[in-house]
Amino acid sequence: MSAESIKVRQGAVFQGEISVPGDKSISHRAVLLAALSNGACRISNFLEGEDCRRTLGIIERLGVKIERVGEGDIVVHGCRGIFSPPEGDLDCGNSGTSMRLLSGLLAAQPFSSRMVGDGSLSKRPMKRVIEPLTRMGAQFHTEGEGGRPPLRVTGGSLRAISYETPVASAQVKSAILFAGLFAEGITTVTEPAASRDHTERMMQYFLVKLRREELGEGKSRRFGPVRVTLAGRQAVESRDFRVPGDVSSAAFWLIAAGARPGSRLLVKGVGLNPTRTGILAVLVRMGVRIREVVEMGESGEPVGLLEARGGPLRGTVIEGAEIANVIDELPVIAIAGALAEGETIIRDAAELRVKETDRIAAITANLRAMGARVEERPDGMVITGGQPLKGATLPSFGDHRIAMAFAIAGLFASGQTVIEDAACVNVSHPGFEEILRIFQKGGNYPRHSVPVFSGAGHLHHAARP
Ligand code: S3P
Repeated sequence: MSAESIKVRQGAVFQGEISVPGDKSISHRAVLLAALSNGACRISNFLEGEDCRRTLGIIERLGVKIERVGEGDIVVHGCRGIFSPPEGDLDCGNSGTSMRLLSGLLAAQPFSSRMVGDGSLSKRPMKRVIEPLTRMGAQFHTEGEGGRPPLRVTGGSLRAISYETPVASAQVKSAILFAGLFAEGITTVTEPAASRDHTERMMQYFLVKLRREELGEGKSRRFGPVRVTLAGRQAVESRDFRVPGDVSSAAFWLIAAGARPGSRLLVKGVGLNPTRTGILAVLVRMGVRIREVVEMGESGEPVGLLEARGGPLRGTVIEGAEIANVIDELPVIAIAGALAEGETIIRDAAELRVKETDRIAAITANLRAMGARVEERPDGMVITGGQPLKGATLPSFGDHRIAMAFAIAGLFASGQTVIEDAACVNVSHPGFEEILRIFQKGGNYPRHSVPVFSGAGHLHHAARP
């Protein structure tokens, strides 16, 4: 467990290599699909963070047998999605992914369950999953204002729907696809821009047949609208699954190295799914040299190695369909913006206001407290970079990504930066502080003995949608 507060001082030129814990989005889904399967599935490199443990605990409460083999190593005994009614509330803690994805599964169960969350989750919108799942035949009751949790789901037999999501949200898409697996008929979900496609990949890996079609055109096709089609009542075949490292956790370190000329970082065993690697294109536009080497497709997900070489940063614009691809990285991209010459503009990102906290307000307040120039906009912000950052005592707003983004800012600030209430980093990145200490002292390669990296890779191009 990390300390209550994180203290950080100016870092040095960095030379070294790290690996990051398992991917949060993929760990949630691995447990859920394994539970729907017809046998035992061993999941390795499972993220032992707070959020994924909530999903695991809830699945266990629903009658699924879980064996804990070791750290990040579990066996889930699939029950073909036939769960037992839980006693008492299902506590999702801080995890929006748990509540929204489980809504899709519970919608098909012939019993009633009540999901609750912490103060932050109790303020997050659930109507986005309630609307489609109600159309499929489930009943929902929210106790919070305007469709906020606690959330009671009464499930039953479902009918397939064809649904267009108003926001590009992988959580909404996944909830519908999970429910669609239980429904009679063909379920179709269309999203306005491509959100992460882990559910689709993992369903296919567990031998579920589905079709994912990119509906956009030209160069921006992979960021454009997507339609997914799935027939209900398919068997989910049990399989072992290895979770790749989380590229969203790697993003903090890519920026910590990338914003300092002379630094060089290798990240090994990291997930390189193209619906998640928009951060690389953003960093290249900002002046970081990035090399991406896909080494293998593990469990249906591309995995490999990233190299970042630091340079002087310049501002960039992040907008439109690219936003869904970098939604979780925007807090630390804002830090890069503050360290860059010129303006960094983030727009079309109003979704940031309904994350673990209002991230637009939190980033603006904390950047200003460090002396940065930033203008808050309803759907983003404009950062005029290049102002020297000064150390400050900052709130985390109970949000793991805000805590980590500002710890990274502290590596570039004069004096000491203190992130208060920072235990929340364990939501997605256990071990964050240990890597921060390595950065603080300049790396983990002995001086002058940096291994020469000769992997056949390609330089990432600054492709923009
Ligand atoms: C997630 C999807 C994203 C992301 C969240 C994890 C997922 O949320 O911000 O951290 O695992 O599906 P939305 O689907 O709400 O955009």
